[in-house]
Amino acid sequence: SSDAVKQLKKEVGIAAAKRVQSNMVVGLGTGSTTAFAIAELGRRLSAGEITNIVGIPTSFQATVLGKQAGIPIRSLDDVDRIDIAIDGADEVDPNKNLIKGGGAAHTREKVVDSLAAQFIVVVDQSKLVDKLGTTFDMPVEVLPMAIAPVTRAIEKLGGQPTLRMGVRKDGPVITDQGNMVIDVKFEGGIDNAPELEKTINNIPGVIENGLFIGVTNLVLVGELKGDTPSIR
Ligand code: A5P
Repeated sequence: SSDAVKQLKKEVGIAAAKRVQSNMVVGLGTGSTTAFAIAELGRRLSAGEITNIVGIPTSFQATVLGKQAGIPIRSLDDVDRIDIAIDGADEVDPNKNLIKGGGAAHTREKVVDSLAAQFIVVVDQSKLVDKLGTTFDMPVEVLPMAIAPVTRAIEKLGGQPTLRMGVRKDGPVITDQGNMVIDVKFEGGIDNAPELEKTINNIPGVIENGLFIGVTNLVLVGELKGDTPSIR
């Protein structure tokens, strides 16, 4: 049930937050799983279990949740490093490569997560795939004036792009940076993800794609053993 999945997300988020130590600069990811990690970080701070951390948010959502949790929020201009980043993912492959951007936050996430000395991914078991692109279409953030040529360029690469539309908004989704998102389906999944990440980003007008290659240090997976939630 979705209650069980929510419980897995919560446990794995808490487990990641427990790895944060005093004086760390922490990248705050986006999504429902990271939300639990941010809440736990706030709890640990106010309980005095850790002191003097600051958060670098990857989205408006992370900024709001971080402030609500009482975590001092800073920007990259204020820090010279990120010690640890905690973030969710939409797909995780056996090499710890990812598809991200289901929440349209992958551009800032890639900046923050790839700067981190330690990048921890938090997911429930449903995110694990053998091959990227099999269960989730790859998000690409695009400059609005370049939507048409970028769409054609991606079709030439064999992808099937769809402009992401708002759920409670008429018209396209607008990212935190004021851009649009296209979701790209690759029939049979993505064959050469490291190469595709570079190829897509080389199209003029593309801001950033959702492939995260060689960035992840650790994946924490919440899974059900029978009826019991556990983490590996
Ligand atoms: C945000 O753009 C994504 O990269 C999220 O990290 C991803 O969608 C994970 O979200 P959930 O933890 O809610 O599944």
